[in-house]
Amino acid sequence: MAADIVDFSNGAPEAIRSRLALALDVDDVVEARRLAHLLRPWFGVAKVGLELFSAAGPEAIEVMIEDGFAVFADLKLLDIPTTVNKAARVMGSLGVSYLTVHTRAGVDHLRAGVEGVTAGASAAGLPAPICLGITVLTSEQADLAVLEQRVGIVLEAGCGGLVCSASDLATVRSLTVDVVTVVPGIRPVGVNVDDQARPATPASAIASGADVLVIGRAVTHAADPIQAAISIAAEVADAIG
Ligand code: C5P
Repeated sequence: MAADIVDFSNGAPEAIRSRLALALDVDDVVEARRLAHLLRPWFGVAKVGLELFSAAGPEAIEVMIEDGFAVFADLKLLDIPTTVNKAARVMGSLGVSYLTVHTRAGVDHLRAGVEGVTAGASAAGLPAPICLGITVLTSEQADLAVLEQRVGIVLEAGCGGLVCSASDLATVRSLTVDVVTVVPGIRPVGVNVDDQARPATPASAIASGADVLVIGRAVTHAADPIQAAISIAAEVADAIG
């Protein structure tokens, strides 16, 4: 499927939308919903992070589900296993599709997250969400051994996926092909990198083995967000082939 012969101006097919997560980094649920609605033809996943969840709580998740999105609750949980388990259970019961938990506290903490989010969803009669282990934050000093150890923790805990930078994808994919890889720090060629330390283009992230791309400011701060979304969807379609 070549990007130049496919017209995504009215939206992207589900196979592309399900791989694009819109980072709703705002502190107001009305603004989040406006942005999500505007960009829904190209994005199938709505990422609710700490800022929006702090502002609006479960309502932020509920409205995105109501609007037809798979919700990615990016709460980056890190606490004692019991607390992680209970928080994850609540998120599962709300109907999230993805939930992030840190790997750096160890396998027991991550397993507590996996079990909690699965149990919460199951009790509410919902499909099992994917617990995503956060491997290495860009603000951390972590070498290859740390990355490998954290991928090992993801696998041991039974996590369905992980979050990593595009530059770590080759290592991750050399260790496993059985997890969903979620990659932030995406910037098309020529777009401001903002504070992202290890940015990658949509095409290069897909080519390196990314399953889901987290896209925020490249679209939300673009002069023309719809045009930015169209060209990212086309670039992803071209990279998938
Ligand atoms: O695309 P943009 O840079 O705006 O994306 C920012 C989003 O990506 C934020 O929601 C942030 O939490 C997330 N992020 C991340 N890991 C990084 C960098 C950003 O999850 N290493």
